[in-house]
Amino acid sequence: MKAKNILAGFALVGAIALTTAGCAGGGNTAGGGGGDDKVITVGFAQTGSESGWRSANTESMKEAFSEANGFNLIFNAADNKPEAQIAAVRSFINQGVDAIVLAPIVTDGWDDVLKEAKDANIPVILEDRTVSAPEDLYASWVGLDFKKEGETAGKWVADNFGKTPTNLVVLEGTTGSSAATDRAAGFDEAIKGTDIKVLDSQTGNFTRAEGKTVMEGFLQKYGSTINVLFAHNDDMGLGALDAIKAAGLKPGTDIKIVTIDAVKDGMTALADGEFNYIVECNPLLGDKVAEVVKKVVAGESVDKSYIVEDQAFDQEQAKAALPDRKY
Ligand code: AHR
Repeated sequence: MKAKNILAGFALVGAIALTTAGCAGGGNTAGGGGGDDKVITVGFAQTGSESGWRSANTESMKEAFSEANGFNLIFNAADNKPEAQIAAVRSFINQGVDAIVLAPIVTDGWDDVLKEAKDANIPVILEDRTVSAPEDLYASWVGLDFKKEGETAGKWVADNFGKTPTNLVVLEGTTGSSAATDRAAGFDEAIKGTDIKVLDSQTGNFTRAEGKTVMEGFLQKYGSTINVLFAHNDDMGLGALDAIKAAGLKPGTDIKIVTIDAVKDGMTALADGEFNYIVECNPLLGDKVAEVVKKVVAGESVDKSYIVEDQAFDQEQAKAALPDRKY
């Protein structure tokens, strides 16, 4: 931990700073080795635990930021409340961590706290989603090409249904998140000029429960006129399955379903014929983020962004891929 920031912590929150100072020590080393291998204290501000993707991402991060790998990880999950996530980042600054990793719930609203981190000389590394704040306020970003994910999903829908009049509904991810905004933009571009009509598009906040509730509303309003559902993640699609079955319709047949993530439950629904197509969003970002954090803390140069490649699966490909799926 940084001594300067620990002092700042004393001024701001005496009690917390006392605890922090107690473990700062200055002589901590990874794996009990010599002075070169200082333990790196990292505050990780996770979004919450909204989906299967998120669980896999948290696990990957915890594995990569382990004590054995030379880290002291302080983990916070903000229950998808942006103000709670900003407070977590501020607390990491006050604790004088060596680096902050942030999976931002929403894109906007980060300028002030990122500036505070910069003023305290604490590098911030973004993982998963992006922010609208100026690039000089964070060191690097490790994530996915959400726009391309949306485009790939939209292209599949356009290729399969674009030439006949088709009614589509959308379950969007968390409003204001880069994952939802960019997926929507990519999808809309891909279906432009086709015979596909978007009947409705509402947020299900990336959760199964809200995906089910919003789909129930769509079914009450549009009934069996819905031909295709595009869900911004597997979990909302899985919630929608229950609503579709309860309405007496057959998911994957009466209503075709396209989702994003490719977590095991989603891939199982695809292999079972209840989903029709999934675009992957790889949650296993931990090792790359840890590598970037180590370099940044050591003062080495890093790229401004690292994009992890995704693939896509139809029903047959899901059957083949499922046995080896890691998440
Ligand atoms: O930001 C990535 C998205 O967040 C995943 O697609 C979704 O499942 C998660 O909640």
